Amino acid sequence: MTSQPKPGAVRAVSQTEFTLRVNGGEYPLRTDARVTLLDALRDRLGLTGTKKGCDQGTCGACTVHVDGKRILSCLTLAAQCDGREVTTIEGVGDESNLHPVQESFLKHDGFQCGYCTPGQIMSALALISEGRAGTPEEIREYMSGNICRCGAYQNIVAAIQEAAGHDAAL
Ligand code: FES
Ligand code: FES
Repeated sequence: MTSQPKPGAVRAVSQTEFTLRVNGGEYPLRTDARVTLLDALRDRLGLTGTKKGCDQGTCGACTVHVDGKRILSCLTLAAQCDGREVTTIEGVGDESNLHPVQESFLKHDGFQCGYCTPGQIMSALALISEGRAGTPEEIREYMSGNICRCGAYQNIVAAIQEAAGHDAAL
């Protein structure tokens, strides 16, 4: 028979230690083993450029790169990324040194409120480097996991199409 915890008892939470490598920096962490990469980036490292939209893998706002591939950080455990290379929007460019994809989003008004934009840009970078940005149809297909509630899709596609014509890889 399984013993029941006493009323008021604190349930032990499994902690784990690992190192996140993000945008060229190394961050030793000790967290609950269930912490997602998204929450570790935002709450532990203060990298709030990566956004939490749905927190269940359906909107793409939390897209980052791990070892050069795009992943949904809300569906990835932080501990799974131990020693792997994580790149967030903060590692792509900044106000004084925008990446060509960021320049292109600005030029084409590829956003309105901007909440989805970091995820859109991380996905755009991935599909350009995968060679999947040849036509507007292809861009729409391979960006379909990134939802924009403002409906800036037409301009996002134009921005990616133009950026893909340049050397726009990370
Ligand atoms: Fe991760 Fe929406 S927050 S897919
Ligand atoms: Fe507002 Fe995409 S720009 S959600």
